Parts: sequence; C-alpha cells; structure tokens
Amino acid sequence: NPVVLSGIQPTGGMTIGNYIGAINQWRTLQQDHDCFFMLADLHAITVRQDPAQLRERVLDGVALYTACGIDVEKSALFVQSQVIEHAQLAWVLNCYTQMGELNRMTQFKDKSSKHANNINVGLFSYPALQAADILLYQATKVPVGEDQKQHLELTRDIANRFNNLYGDVFTIPDPYIPEVGARVMSLQDPTKKMSKSDENPSAYVMLLDEPKKIEKKLKRAVTDSDEQARIYYDTTEKPGVSNLLTLLSVATGNSIESLVPAYEDKMYGHLKKDTAEAVVAMIEPIQARFREIREDQTELERIMKLGAEKASAKAQVTLKAAYDAVGFIAKP
Ligand code: TYM
Repeated sequence: NPVVLSGIQPTGGMTIGNYIGAINQWRTLQQDHDCFFMLADLHAITVRQDPAQLRERVLDGVALYTACGIDVEKSALFVQSQVIEHAQLAWVLNCYTQMGELNRMTQFKDKSSKHANNINVGLFSYPALQAADILLYQATKVPVGEDQKQHLELTRDIANRFNNLYGDVFTIPDPYIPEVGARVMSLQDPTKKMSKSDENPSAYVMLLDEPKKIEKKLKRAVTDSDEQARIYYDTTEKPGVSNLLTLLSVATGNSIESLVPAYEDKMYGHLKKDTAEAVVAMIEPIQARFREIREDQTELERIMKLGAEKASAKAQVTLKAAYDAVGFIAKP
C-alpha cells in the first residue's frame, strides 16, 4: 500500500484550519493507505513551552485525532518524541541540509521575527526534522495545508541529494493538498491565514471552542466592504465571503459551485448564519467523542503504545539503511 505521513504541532489546540487543511484528508486517506499520524512534540519545543501544559496538549491531541476519526487500529497514531528514530534521522539529515536552504524557509522567517528573543538552532533546522518524519516511513503522500508546501519541497531536495550519493534509500514524497480548504483564512483579516497563534482569538475557530462561541465568531467574521454586497466566490475580490463559502462547503460536503446560486439575492448575514450552523454541526460530534476519550487515561496510553510500536517497526528499517549508507557500523 502507498504510505501517508502527517503531523500537527501540539501547541494550543487545533483550529478548524488544521482540521480542514489536514485531519479531514487524513480520515479519507486511511481507507487505501498505510497511514502514520503524529503529534509533533519535538517540533513544538522549538518555541518555549510550559512542560505541564505540553503534556496536557499532547494528550488532548491524541484524543482529538481519535475523535476526528483516525482509526487507531488501522493507522499508527503516535507521539513523535516516543519514536526515537525521528531525532536520530534528523541528525543525519541536518548534515545533508544547507544553511542557505533553511534560511529561505518562510516559516522560519515568520517565527524568528515573532520570537526574536529565542531564535534557537532547533527552530532553524526544524525542516530537517520534518524531512526525517516523512522519510522514515517512506511516505508517498503528505497531506498538509498550503503553508507546508515549502517544507515538502525541501524534503524532496534532501531525499534526492541523499539518494544521489548513496542509492535509493528514501522514497520521494509528494505533498497532498486539498482543493478546497488548503488555506483557511483569518475571520478578522481574510487576507491572512487562520492561525492559532493570532493575538486576536476572534480570528480563529478552535475545534474545542464552545458552540456558542463558534457561532459568535462566525457571525462577526469580517466580510468584504465593496459596494455590491453580493455573494460569490473570488478569493481576491471577495476574500471574506470566499472564506465563509469554503467553510460552508467543507462543513456541508457540498461543492462551492452548488452553494453559490442559493445566495444570489441573500445578504452576508444569511451566509454567516448558515456557515455557523454547519460548522457547529460538523464539530459537535467531534467534541462529544473528544470528551469521552480524553477522560480515559488507560485508553490514551494504549493508543500511544500501540502507535509508537507500529511507527517504530517501520522507522527502524529506514534508519538502519540511512546509518549504513553514511558509513556507521551497526552495534555489534
Ligand atoms: P501545523 O501544526 O502548523 O499545522 C498542522 C496542519 O494544519 C495545516 N494548517 C492549515 N490548513 C489550512 N488552513 C489553515 N489556516 C491552516 N493552518 C494550518 C498545516 O498546513 C498542517 O498541514 N510543520 C508542521 C507539522 C509537521 C509535519 C511533519 C507535517 C511536523 N512534521 C511532517 C507534515 C509532515 C506544522 O507546523 O504544522
């Protein structure tokens, strides 16, 4: 079977952007792929985290992946730091990644300006660790949102460089980016992507926000202030309206083209109200399942153990091949 790997950083919960851009594709890919889904806690500490809070958020993440429909018997759901091969391969790949390449990464530029007092080496080499995540599993597809495209391209470059030196050690992965919802935008500034690190909480909807709060945020979403308050899909002319149409489309499962005619002579308020209802209807069952699993510590531990074992079994094989390729002697 073709292999899929993806992950989310367990920092401050998940937005509907994370859900629509990533997890929603993961669920469908499980049907015909061998899937590996991780909580990227090694990546999370490139920005300072409170240890107790990080522990809670990783457990929240395990419960949330499960609540979103990740099948823990079929796929490997695991915590990155519990599979040691990630750190081990990342070191090797650090030595096959150029400073110049990392310097061009827009996520690094964004984060280093946001966290100017802690521009650590891990933050800089973050993409080499991400490459290790992907290459360890010989993943063919990496389902992500638009913002991860650049990291995926670098992963391909690193893998090709390594393979050219040593033979076919790594499978070259392709990004898998959804047609609708690859870039869910901020509700307060629809020209920016929705991000959980936005200083204004009205800009994003979290998967675990109270339904009332979700409704409020969507009803207050910034729409477009051109003369004609018409509703149609055009991300440049109508970024706010188009973002709502995207959310409505994903939440109802109807295509954008099929939705637009119904709003021909309606007002923005109608669209906001319908979007709010649809998003709440999509999220409420996830929240209910989340609450159930999150309380079951034994089940969370079982999931993590099972996932780490499955992941490690596959990761070990690739790590061994990479160690051998660069000339390390296997432990006698
Ligand atoms: P992270 O934690 O920032 O985001 C997780 C996933 O959510 C997607 N995403 C969005 N999609 C649509 N609209 C948005 N507004 C939006 N915001 C976030 C992201 O594209 C991503 O798919 N470096 C990664 C985590 C990672 C990873 C990996 C991903 C670590 N190792 C290996 C894939 C493969 C990150 O920071 O994602």
